[in-house]
Amino acid sequence: MKKKYENKVLAFRWVKSPSKKLMILNQLLIPHQEKWIECTHHEDVADCIRHMNVRGAPAIGCVAAYGLVLSSLEKKFADSKALISYLYSSAQTLFSTRPTAINLYWALERMKKAVKDIKPQAKNERAKIKEIRETLEEEANKIYEEDLDGNYRMGDLGAKLFPKEAVILTHCNTGSLATSGWGTALGVIRTAYHKGKIKKVLVDETRPYLQGARLTAWELSKDKIPYELITDNMAAHMMKTETIHAVIVGSDRIASNGDVANKIGTYGLAVLCQYHKIPFYVVAPTSTIDLKVISGAQIPIEERSRKEVTHIRNYALTPLDTIARNPSFDITPHSLITAIITEKGIAQPPSMETIKQFLNHTPK
Ligand code: MRU
Repeated sequence: MKKKYENKVLAFRWVKSPSKKLMILNQLLIPHQEKWIECTHHEDVADCIRHMNVRGAPAIGCVAAYGLVLSSLEKKFADSKALISYLYSSAQTLFSTRPTAINLYWALERMKKAVKDIKPQAKNERAKIKEIRETLEEEANKIYEEDLDGNYRMGDLGAKLFPKEAVILTHCNTGSLATSGWGTALGVIRTAYHKGKIKKVLVDETRPYLQGARLTAWELSKDKIPYELITDNMAAHMMKTETIHAVIVGSDRIASNGDVANKIGTYGLAVLCQYHKIPFYVVAPTSTIDLKVISGAQIPIEERSRKEVTHIRNYALTPLDTIARNPSFDITPHSLITAIITEKGIAQPPSMETIKQFLNHTPK
């Protein structure tokens, strides 16, 4: 699919020459500074994921794939076996950075499979190593391109669900910064805006890490899409006192029954939507669907540092001995979700049957 709209923000860039490296936009400095981190080693990429310099499920899948390319290039190998064993341990390091987003695991498994599927043609070990490196780079590029293409498809499919002059509430950051470009839920909002359907976006600040306030507000402001920032606890009041046509969010992992793991606070919004009779949409590429997981109860929830709750940057908000909790994601049961929008189709209502019916279908 051809890109219809230009996107002004990127989370990462793969540089091919003079030497290969991955540039990651340091999201911890947004909105005040746009600084890039140069990654030449898979450990650099793992650090960026761990510290949230790059975040958002599809984006961390893409950068992890490039991390594996770097791992194949970062040292000399005696033979192809040594390279493959190093790749497997690098994949483990990258995988261990964040547990909830399945895209990370999906991308690393796909990279490993691409290497396994190489038909041995090269005669000597040097040629085999070269072939593995080339295969890895090709596969990482494919993962990136397919994700971007999927973003635009989800944008087109999802935008059809909004009425004209729509007021839409969104949570966390699901835009270009969280994907290969454009976005999932924010991609739908962007496409709908280009089609003249958006009146205003309400942006949840998304405590504790403020992805809405720092990142979504920044993306919308760059695109000149009208928005208003609200604190998370204002959502119920806004639903009661103003017209909100839909709430739309992304996902870090979708169980085969349609239960959705997403940024903490998503479940609360879905409950509010049911009470206020507002459609609740989830937008995610099929790489976010984990068929091995039967229901949301089996999805591991990342518990992050308590300092993210007690502090803003390095400023303490609470008494120093405060014990805080920080589950970074929650599970929304499929019964509260109006539809799940993927690049291959819409599951409405979400269930094992509606999800499976389009999974093997390749869109043209
Ligand atoms: O902790 P984060 O910032 O990585 O969490 C991001 C989210 O929860 C997003 O909603 C999700 O990854 C989908 S983004 C396309």
